[in-house]
Amino acid sequence: MNTRQFLKVSLLGAGAAALCSRAHALEFYPSPSAKKWAVLYGTWCGSSRDAGVWISEGMNGIAQVFDVRENPDLSSYDHIVAGGAIRSGKVSAELQDYLRKHQAMLAPKIRGLFAVCGNGMQPPGTAQVKALIDQHLAALCGISGVPSRVFLGRITYGLMDEASRKTIEGFGMPEYDNLKRADCMAFGKEILNKSV
Ligand SMILES: Cc1cc2nc3c(=O)[nH]c(=O)nc-3n(C[C@H](O)[C@H](O)[C@H](O)COP(=O)(O)O)c2cc1C
Repeated sequence: MNTRQFLKVSLLGAGAAALCSRAHALEFYPSPSAKKWAVLYGTWCGSSRDAGVWISEGMNGIAQVFDVRENPDLSSYDHIVAGGAIRSGKVSAELQDYLRKHQAMLAPKIRGLFAVCGNGMQPPGTAQVKALIDQHLAALCGISGVPSRVFLGRITYGLMDEASRKTIEGFGMPEYDNLKRADCMAFGKEILNKSV
């Protein structure tokens, strides 16, 4: 290798190292909007994260999407959609705590609520909306009557902790993927149309 080639290789290597040091986890960057929208979700295995991102996509990508475990400060947002995964009939303890703690700030800004559940792989109906939205999420937020949706989610054994995997395997439950991007996007569109 001559001096010129050596310098070229060294500079390329230094450039790649600089890029790597700036690398960070994938984040969802919203499209510009006059109003600030956020989607807040709680999840164990990620289907509710995907629901949140797809709800934002249905809103033309204007909502920033937050995992409740990041403990985001949503006080500067104008409109908020909140929801999450269901285990034993409830959303995660982190989401319950967050909604209770910030109820006064969130209540006037909540434009939609959603739950992601298994429901024995059966289509959710009014009973699930009542139990998971009206009597649970809406109650935690201290609100009623906002657009809401119960989505079917996924079972992915490889993403579960051992105790959860054993519980679900004990029901003879196969892996499944019932979450539909189109349904989540339609809900996002519905919320946006109602709020403008
Ligand atoms: C341990 C465990 C408990 C669950 N409990 C319920 C339940 O009570 N009701 C229900 O409809 N679905 C239940 N599910 C199904 C989940 O709600 C479904 O898999 C959902 O997609 C999980 O969302 P996530 O991927 O965002 O964590 C349960 C799943 C697991 C693993």
